[in-house]
Amino acid sequence: MTEPSDRPDDAEHALRALCAFRGSILHFLADPGSGYGGCEYIEDGLLLVEDGRVLRTGPATALLATLPAGTPLVDHTGCLLMPGFVDTHIHHAQTDVIASGGSTLLDWLERHTFPAERRFADAAHARATSAFFLDELARNGTTTALVFGTVHPTSIDALFEEATVRNLRLIAGKAMMDRNCPDDLRDTARSAYDESSALIERWHGNGRLGYAITPRFACTSSDAQLALAGQLAAEHPDVLVQGHVAENLAEVAWVRSLFPSARSYLDVYEGHGLLRHSVYAHCIYLDAEDRRRMSLARASVAFCPTSNLFLGSGLFDLAAADAAGVQVSIATDVGGGTSFSMLRTLAEAYKVVRMMGQDLSAHRAFYFATLGGARALGLDDRIGSFLPGREADFVVLDPAASALGARRDALARTLEERLFALMVLGDDRNVRQTYIMGVPAIA
Ligand code: GUN
Ligand code: ZN
Repeated sequence: MTEPSDRPDDAEHALRALCAFRGSILHFLADPGSGYGGCEYIEDGLLLVEDGRVLRTGPATALLATLPAGTPLVDHTGCLLMPGFVDTHIHHAQTDVIASGGSTLLDWLERHTFPAERRFADAAHARATSAFFLDELARNGTTTALVFGTVHPTSIDALFEEATVRNLRLIAGKAMMDRNCPDDLRDTARSAYDESSALIERWHGNGRLGYAITPRFACTSSDAQLALAGQLAAEHPDVLVQGHVAENLAEVAWVRSLFPSARSYLDVYEGHGLLRHSVYAHCIYLDAEDRRRMSLARASVAFCPTSNLFLGSGLFDLAAADAAGVQVSIATDVGGGTSFSMLRTLAEAYKVVRMMGQDLSAHRAFYFATLGGARALGLDDRIGSFLPGREADFVVLDPAASALGARRDALARTLEERLFALMVLGDDRNVRQTYIMGVPAIA
């Protein structure tokens, strides 16, 4: 056994050899819904990792006795060990847009977002910002994200090159946008198809990386572009589709005028075959028929509470999504969103749900941030839980990282209370370490 530290003897070693991590183990196997189930919790647990994958979990006292002599043990007693957070909607090119206020969606895009995204034509800027972005994800315990690129293929090359260095499981795509945006941020229906095809060829299934076909939103894509995006999706059934839908009332009205024959905003995407295997951010202004169709298509919602509040967009209706059987995950949507921290994002999700007169348990919130996110991305056979064979991407959370957190944590009588205080008070200070396939990601 080694000295308590957050890293095994050396990182190379960690990828191959057996290593044990001790702490309170929590992972989800199902959506807890309105209850507190669906999870496995081992207060004094051991997580065994071999070759970067979960070998097994169990009570520490029982498992320690079975370990071969010399097995490295990393002691995180007092902390929670959870599968790494999965952020299902975030823009790396908007890292520098964060906290740019004073406007609602369409004006915010013009004033703050497009100027920042323009800089991604420069490969060096794209690479440096991608590096910062991925380090910030790790600092916040996020091990997988579905990332929205800019119109430039370089934005995705840069991100995936930096993700490769870090061995991350990441999905991303170049934004398609051929109208209603600045000339120098515009592709064409054909160039978007060709560039996206080339990126799929280069990156999809390359190591831990995956591609997502990424029409930005119906306002910035012509019918011809959406049709080709749908064709590309049909040609690559295992490639995810991502986009924005029904976020803001002015945006919804604009879509209605751009696509007068569509039944609804969502229908614009569905009509082009863009609903299957998809993640749509926001989904605030959907109707019952939209939800029914999302459920049938197994399309999922990325609920982005900090963004929806910051841009004054509206309140997501979780109960309506549940009633329709629509899959939900939770996302930061940086830079419309105001934090990289999934803990802070869960706290805001809770407040949005309260404003709707509904409820969200901490159990369910952490499910959304882990297995729920993995399910939305179709990755739950690889990440999102500690089932044997899953990739050992996990986060070490210290509920007592701040004086207030420690005080509140000491008063918690149940796991739900403990998780609830952690999500409401938590932020990056609570992230003691983040592991990528068993290797520490925070220096
Ligand atoms: N709709 C279209 N583009 C964007 C974007 O970059 N952020 C958000 N929040 N909504 C969008
Ligand atoms: Zn977004």
